Amino acid sequence: MQEKIDKIKQEALDRIGKAGSEEELSRLEKKYLGRKGELTQILRGLKDLSGEERKEIGQKANRIKQELDSSLNEARKRISGVSSKEEFTDVTLPGEEIERGHLNPVTLIRNELEDVFTSLGFIVMDGPELESDYYCFEALNIPKYHPARDMQDTFYIDKKNQDGEYDMVMRTHTSPVQIRGMEKYGAPIRMVVPGRAFRNEDIDACHEHTFYQIECLMVDENISIANFRDVVKEMLSGIFKQEVKVRLRPAYFPFVEPGFEVDMSCTICGGQGCPSCKNTGWLEMGGAGMVHPNVLKFGGVDPEEYSGFAFGFGMDRIAMMKFGINDIRVFNGGNLKDLQQF
Ligand code: DAH
Repeated sequence: MQEKIDKIKQEALDRIGKAGSEEELSRLEKKYLGRKGELTQILRGLKDLSGEERKEIGQKANRIKQELDSSLNEARKRISGVSSKEEFTDVTLPGEEIERGHLNPVTLIRNELEDVFTSLGFIVMDGPELESDYYCFEALNIPKYHPARDMQDTFYIDKKNQDGEYDMVMRTHTSPVQIRGMEKYGAPIRMVVPGRAFRNEDIDACHEHTFYQIECLMVDENISIANFRDVVKEMLSGIFKQEVKVRLRPAYFPFVEPGFEVDMSCTICGGQGCPSCKNTGWLEMGGAGMVHPNVLKFGGVDPEEYSGFAFGFGMDRIAMMKFGINDIRVFNGGNLKDLQQF
């Protein structure tokens, strides 16, 4: 009897090990462990054996039955291509962390600015960074050879147009989009242009060759400096979430008359004076003014009927103030340790 069982075991394990399909395994299972299976028959016949022998053969046959069961399981996994290792999933283990992207601080400010301005009824416009001399300067009342061109260290592009002239530049400011906006939509118009500008600067903590501006243009009947002040205050309070004072100083920009430099009260010291505002209580934001009649004409707008204000502020400057960043190079530096703090 012992021998018979051993033989069944040997043969069964051998055939299960070599089986190549699920059907074959089912057949083997039936052959050995089924209702009339070979091992089942032996277990059934136990009752005819004497006490000692029954115990011994019974234990052995049951052990073999378990072995065959697990060998069938293993073979089934092998055939369906799942190894027992892969199948095990410990759901209590911490998952793999997914690396998430992060918006640049200037983009965060840009999004906030766009929210503030669209809530005031302004449209958000875009324009080319590689711009023509015409839009960047001439249509903004800066003719060729005018000394005002020296105010901006321009990257001229080394490629001639059909007329044999070098007339492409990397835009030095976002102001050219004022002209494009008026050409496209006419007056009245309220628009902002957040975007990049380029200048051949000596780079330091306050100057970059690639920087960010937001341009604003509002043209309608009876627009005055009062409208400008109000819009700027609305914008700055929206960003800095506190009452912000605005100060205008006379300045020259060819595309406005009169023109101003715009300062805001320092949000870091509340206007008391601190290192960030060089102890003046004021921070310089950019330029502004009432749109020059020539610029309106270049945009196809009648200066007898309409007037407007415009300003161009440094978006990177606003981001520096809002987040307390003291070096402009952080924004384009690509160092994630710097950028992910905000
Ligand atoms: N475009 C000027 C610059 O980058 C800033 C500026 C001044 C923009 C006056 C304006 C303005 O719209 O009215 O230096």
